[in-house]
Amino acid sequence: MQWNILASLLLAQHVAGQGGFNMLRFACSQLVVERTDPLVFPGKKYTPHLHQIVGGNSFNITMDPAQDPAEKSTCTSCSFVEDMSNYWTAVMFFKHKNGTFTRVPQTNNGGLVQKGGLDVYYIPQGKVTAFKKGFRMIAGSPSNTDPKAIQGKVCNRCWTNSGEGRGGGGFVGGAPCTGSDSAEIPADPKCKMIRQTVIFPHCWDGKNLDSPDHASHVSYGQFMGANGGGACPTSHPIRLPQIMYELMWNLTSFTDKSQWPTDGTRPFVYSTHSAGPSAHGDYVFGWKGNSLQTAMDARCANNADCPKGGIHFQRPEKYNGCTIPQQAPEKVDGCKC
Ligand SMILES: *[C@@H]1O[C@H](CO)[C@@H](O)[C@H](O)[C@H]1NC(C)=O
Ligand SMILES: *[C@@H]1O[C@H](CO)[C@@H](O)[C@H](O)[C@H]1NC(C)=O
Ligand SMILES: *[C@@H]1O[C@H](CO)[C@@H](O)[C@H](O)[C@H]1NC(C)=O
Repeated sequence: MQWNILASLLLAQHVAGQGGFNMLRFACSQLVVERTDPLVFPGKKYTPHLHQIVGGNSFNITMDPAQDPAEKSTCTSCSFVEDMSNYWTAVMFFKHKNGTFTRVPQTNNGGLVQKGGLDVYYIPQGKVTAFKKGFRMIAGSPSNTDPKAIQGKVCNRCWTNSGEGRGGGGFVGGAPCTGSDSAEIPADPKCKMIRQTVIFPHCWDGKNLDSPDHASHVSYGQFMGANGGGACPTSHPIRLPQIMYELMWNLTSFTDKSQWPTDGTRPFVYSTHSAGPSAHGDYVFGWKGNSLQTAMDARCANNADCPKGGIHFQRPEKYNGCTIPQQAPEKVDGCKC
């Protein structure tokens, strides 16, 4: 077990006051990086900001909820064969002092292996109800400007060493979105890596698969942080697995402060190019059949085959190979997009 997982779990147990639980934690490689957003702008190409998308290859600018990604996809860029869900986030840019932007590269996180993309956690606390076909939601908001609004939910952590998780002192700090983690991306030349965390609501109204703002059919519960989320409010009584995204951004090439903007703007921004803490995550459920429910019930853990839960791990060579062409073609490394 990784030290960071152990640390998170110990903290989670402390917070949740219960005797331990297993969670899925697995890598998803990049499926495509493009300006599309089938949740907020269905059917639109060249949406206002750039996303990196992972998961099932039926991802599409329309994503009609009647179409099941589990049936339409033929591969997934995520670690479990059964998981054709789509997950996406903004990307990070470095802003040079001359005003140009460079996309910040991503790297592996805590022993998981991937090409770009993100890591996904499904954290069940007690008995949880898996998402239903057609379910989708957003955590955080691209238009958010209030750090307090996302406290304990969406955060960034400065890693002052460049070691990758395992052994070499890579892991910095305690459970996600605690301690000095900040809603804004830190602007400190000592930060070699930024670990970004997006924690989703885990309480559902039990009726709506989506809502106009893609958020009000779900709710956060008793606890903030990566601990399963605690008790749910009566308005949203159904306890879902708590989903968390984790992303590791490698700032090593951009730590020379003499290259940073001198006009008071920030050196590192998410692709929303907003002045505020605008990180967010989008989720479209797409596990095959009942597989997520059986995996949660069987307490399947981490990123390994889980026969009693009926889910199957595939090798990185396999999930890295699942990609799709851009539907909104453009260069995405050096743009303000
Ligand atoms: C996107 O999905 C729609 C059905 O919802 C389908 O008609 C269309 O062909 C798909 N486009 C791509 C590029 O897969
Ligand atoms: C801005 O600076 C970067 C880094 O030095 C350089 O690669 C880029 O070409 C410059 N762009 C312009 C328009 O001068
Ligand atoms: C981070 O970026 C630097 C500079 O490009 C590179 O040398 C290093 O290998 C990267 N680290 C990881 C863990 O990807």
